[in-house]
Amino acid sequence: MFVGGEVVAYVDKALNKDYVKTPFINSIINRSQNYLEAGFPVHFSGPAGTGKTTLALITALALGKPVIVTYGNDDFSHTDLIGSVVGFKKQIVRDNYVHSVMKSTDVFTTSWIDGAITRACKNGYTLIYDEFTRSRPEANNVLLSVLEEKVMHLPNLAKGEKEIEVHPEFRVIFTSNPEEYAGVHKTQDALKDRMITLDLGEFDEETETKIVQLKSGVQWETAQKITALVRGFRSNCQHSFKPTVRAGIMIASVVSYLHLDPDRKNPHFCQIVSDILMSTVLPHKNVPEIVEAGGKYLFELLNMHCS
Ligand SMILES: Nc1ncnc2c1ncn2[C@@H]1O[C@H](COP(=O)(O)OP(=O)(O)OP(=O)(O)O)[C@@H](O)[C@H]1O
Ligand SMILES: [Mg+2]
Repeated sequence: MFVGGEVVAYVDKALNKDYVKTPFINSIINRSQNYLEAGFPVHFSGPAGTGKTTLALITALALGKPVIVTYGNDDFSHTDLIGSVVGFKKQIVRDNYVHSVMKSTDVFTTSWIDGAITRACKNGYTLIYDEFTRSRPEANNVLLSVLEEKVMHLPNLAKGEKEIEVHPEFRVIFTSNPEEYAGVHKTQDALKDRMITLDLGEFDEETETKIVQLKSGVQWETAQKITALVRGFRSNCQHSFKPTVRAGIMIASVVSYLHLDPDRKNPHFCQIVSDILMSTVLPHKNVPEIVEAGGKYLFELLNMHCS
């Protein structure tokens, strides 16, 4: 038992079935694997939907060690990562050896449970720390000595263990979305300095089309049309909330479910595309020019790719 994470040995099978391999993806994975095997943490940084979490899982599994995933969040304290004391055990000893004298002793003991990092450090597992910048810097400080001196300092409560030596096969993969930094905590520079950051952008068209096809089960030509629509809309977005590969997966999945033709003359298809892509414009509905431009451009894209 441990706190602050989950073991994901089962994703092994899920990813093999569901994972798109293209030169674009392979290049990122090969580079990351090399850096990790050489002993350095890797950090996938990129906007929403650029495949950070999936790449982290694939890369971690390629290392062939058990994987622990933990997710950054604002409420995290260092105990979520390192471990904490859970509950008390009370032992009462009554000594009535001399019948007229009753001696009673209450003994309280605590149980320590390892956190995600402690468990991975002790056993040489691979740790995925997804969206680590969502945690407060104080919570992440424990990683500084883990990554540099390969020593982890434990709090006094941890049953006499003051520090543990980090297992030589322990590896960490971080992910974060730099667009969130404004609202969340800035990456700690000291921590960032200890990792190799790969800046992920948009997938290339082949990879995105393959992901859309794989996740929805549509024909290749349909995946191509839908991906072209989504990428066209994304590149012309005048707002910051851009549709990601998930929009393509959604459109394609609904098209597949309803057995629709991806044709601009099909009103059902156009409505679905509009509902899903225009939802990224909704946060700007009080700026009519943006909404109007989005609708107009969508119409052009449908003519361009779905005639
Ligand atoms: N190589 C891949 N093979 C198959 N599906 C993929 C691949 N990469 C990404 N996907 C799919 O694309 C979508 C977005 O990927 P993912 O969740 O990894 O992105 P993310 O950058 O972590 O997004 P967020 O910032 O929102 O957490 C998911 O549905 C995921 O399953
Ligand atoms: Mg993610």
